[in-house]
Amino acid sequence: MIDLHCHLLPGIDDGPETLELALQLARHAVASGIRVSTVTPHMHAGRYENRATSIRRAAAEFQAVLDREGIGLRIRVAAEVRLDHEVLSWIAEGQVPFLGRWHDENVMLLELPHSHVPVGADKLVEWLLRQGIRPMIAHPERNKDIMRSVEKLLPFVRLGCLLQVTAGAVAGSFGDGARIRAEDLLGKGWVTVLASDAHNMESRPPELEPGRSAAAAIVGEAESWNLVRHRPAEILEVNA
Ligand SMILES: [Fe+2]
Repeated sequence: MIDLHCHLLPGIDDGPETLELALQLARHAVASGIRVSTVTPHMHAGRYENRATSIRRAAAEFQAVLDREGIGLRIRVAAEVRLDHEVLSWIAEGQVPFLGRWHDENVMLLELPHSHVPVGADKLVEWLLRQGIRPMIAHPERNKDIMRSVEKLLPFVRLGCLLQVTAGAVAGSFGDGARIRAEDLLGKGWVTVLASDAHNMESRPPELEPGRSAAAAIVGEAESWNLVRHRPAEILEVNA
């Protein structure tokens, strides 16, 4: 399986604080059937000042350690970009690492605030689309506004945003509200991929299988594999 959204790099955001903890996460990912993990450190103005250059450097160092330790996990690089006006300058500077490609466009993992959908968010999405950048909305099922009303997500779906739902949310690890919205989005056929959004071993481990099997009950076995293997592979342009 391929995990398109996780925080595995040590000391770069709210993921693992140490290399030892990061290696524990990587070993767990492999034991859980994950072969490729796209690390997506937060880019969040004023909070996590990561940029493509520094993320790529940290990821290369981490891959070297994984190889030395014999941990069979391939690391790919992207970022989880917080919706903010700063995004415009980050893109102009070429400092946003994209997830990959989708129908000849770059895919960017876009994070909304957890509490609400800001007014004007759709305008930023329209601007991104004009730049040839297709946003993938990170974990919409955990946004409080969207949990209350799926209407809040509609403008993004209509604009053609891709959707990444958290595997653990489908499996129930984020509570009933997130699970119910995740199931609803799966049932509507709107979900592009499932990803772990792993941060730690305790509450957000790097696992996809519990979510995939829960999703299979809604979308069927074949589509459940599309969510964790075939579509992520297509975006990364690697073999599934
Ligand atoms: Fe994340």
